[in-house]
Amino acid sequence: MSDQHKVSVELGDRAYEIIIGSGVLARAAAHMAPLLTRPKLAIVADASLADNHLPVLRAALDDAAIAHDSYLVPSGETSKNFTQLSELCDWLLAQKIERNDCIIALGGGVVGDLTGFAAAILRRGTRFIQIPTTLLAQVDSSIGGKTAINAKSGKNLIGAFHQPDLVLADMDVLKTLPPREIGAGYAEIVKYGALGDKDFFVWLEANGDAVLALDEAATAEAVARSCRAKAAIVARDERETGERALLNLGHTFGHAFEALTGYDNTLLHGEAVAYGMVLAFAFSAARGHCPPDDAARVKTLIAASKLPDAMKAIGAGKFAADDLIEAMRQDKKVQNGQMRFILAHGLGDTFIADDVDEHELRDFLLAQGAQAA
Ligand code: GLY
Repeated sequence: MSDQHKVSVELGDRAYEIIIGSGVLARAAAHMAPLLTRPKLAIVADASLADNHLPVLRAALDDAAIAHDSYLVPSGETSKNFTQLSELCDWLLAQKIERNDCIIALGGGVVGDLTGFAAAILRRGTRFIQIPTTLLAQVDSSIGGKTAINAKSGKNLIGAFHQPDLVLADMDVLKTLPPREIGAGYAEIVKYGALGDKDFFVWLEANGDAVLALDEAATAEAVARSCRAKAAIVARDERETGERALLNLGHTFGHAFEALTGYDNTLLHGEAVAYGMVLAFAFSAARGHCPPDDAARVKTLIAASKLPDAMKAIGAGKFAADDLIEAMRQDKKVQNGQMRFILAHGLGDTFIADDVDEHELRDFLLAQGAQAA
């Protein structure tokens, strides 16, 4: 057992642990056993994991004599829909999964969000365990209880807060990810440094290459620091009435580019967040909130990580400022019609700004390379 980290999400009687390290999946049964009220559970897995990580989990459960069946969800964001949700709920009910049983979500954000939402509504709330298999899911979507499917009018618009009972983050499963997926997850790691922990940002400036190369100790350290940061925020503001919105650093800008590129492989979510952070810091500097040098450091770290640091690096690189603003108006943080941005006073010091004027935003986007029409 090497370099195992444990992070607690302190939510009173709904508190849970995140176990981070190598070989965690193979030891999953031992981590889960104390939570099970009977030796039976259901696994919901991304279909792409049927031949590699799923057999490791099933073997671990077999060895521990824990009965299990598994359901495969087709890979991709389109699985977060009502039809898939309904099929999954019917399957879980057919397996006679009870409220006190655990449902395991094995996969990235899609499987975690879908399974978490199914768990939230099945028998009015069933327990579930997240085993995130992407870097992005390990540091963000598997923690904090946001579960959802997509609606015609936008991503994650139908969902519930439902906390997992345990999160198992195995560093070994990351080794099968394409480098682009690692980069997209790494952007969310940078986010934690940029939004609230300057020392972590400085650590990433020195160790980011090792994390991107999946050096075991560096990656586990980065995942653990990210999970600790998110766990602390979630413990203070589970329902996002305030501070949790800071976790959306880079998202208002990023979502607009995701929307305009069609939420496809042109721009992965983490890549959009990376460029969104560059813009959030540049906008903060342009408004006089933040030293230009801090904005430059964010851009440099993003560029060094081979993530998009400029508009021309995204798809065809041509975006009309008005289209971007229209997409930002759909952001979930909009309140009473007023757009809200996460801006920065400096590295590790962010705040919610609700005084951004559309003309000012338009001028800024034009200066960053957006088209006038
Ligand atoms: N991904 C943002 C949050 O969990 O609040």
